[in-house]
Order: sequence, then C-alpha cells, then structure tokens
Amino acid sequence: MPTRRPAASRRTVLRGAVLTPVAGLGLAACGGADDAAAPLNGPVELGPESEVAKDGAKLYRDHNVVVSRSEEGTLKAYDTLCTHAGCPINKLEGTKLICPCHGSEFDATTGKVLREPAVAPLKALAIEVKNGTMVAKPQA
Ligand code: FES
Repeated sequence: MPTRRPAASRRTVLRGAVLTPVAGLGLAACGGADDAAAPLNGPVELGPESEVAKDGAKLYRDHNVVVSRSEEGTLKAYDTLCTHAGCPINKLEGTKLICPCHGSEFDATTGKVLREPAVAPLKALAIEVKNGTMVAKPQA
C-alpha cells in the first residue's frame, strides 16, 4: 500500500515565493555600516553663514553636516551619519533630523536622540565663519 506524503499546499508555495524577494529588498534598503559614508575627516566649506536662520537649521547632505543657529546667533554643527548603523541622514524637518534607514530622529540643535533605535547623540563638529562662509571640521 503506497504511503501518502503531505503535499505542499498552494499557500505554502506562494508564501515562500513572496518572502524571498521581500527579504532581499529588506537587506538592500537597510544598508547599514557597510554602505555608510565616511565621517568628516577635515575642514569643509558649507556655504554662506546667512543660509542658516536664527532658531533654524540647514542640512548639507553632500557633506553629511547639519548646522543650526540659536536665537542669539550661535552656530552649532553635527555630523549627520546616524549613530545607529551609519546611514547618512537625508531629511530635516524644522530642527528635527530623520534617518531614512530605521527612523531614528535627532535634534539638530543639540545632536540628542529624539527617537530610537539610535541611542547615542550625533557627533559634534567645530564650526567657524571665514569671510562669511561657514567651515565645519572635526573637533580637536
Ligand atoms: S541607521 Fe538605523 S536609524 Fe539610522
């Protein structure tokens, strides 16, 4: 008497077919440290000081730097490589930075984490103005 093997249901087969490409996309979208841009390793000219409004911030994506200005006019700069897995942060809403990889949020005026999964603050940079142009560099 032949034994019956349980046949794979149509649902099981379809589930496998659907999950495989989704898992692949997840890895590609996550990026992480392997795709991370290099941290700032020397002085970089950002642009005119007038680009950053009081109580505001401006994201310089090409250099992975955000600059904010207090109400009193003091400038602050932070490296915008996410402290979670190193993705370059590409979105600034007001003074809130939002990482595209896993949704961490940071305060552009303090570098502090507003939303996990990141737990460490952004790395502070030195910033000075030379002939009206902002120059950011790693802190000594
Ligand atoms: S790299 Fe994961 S939240 Fe930014």
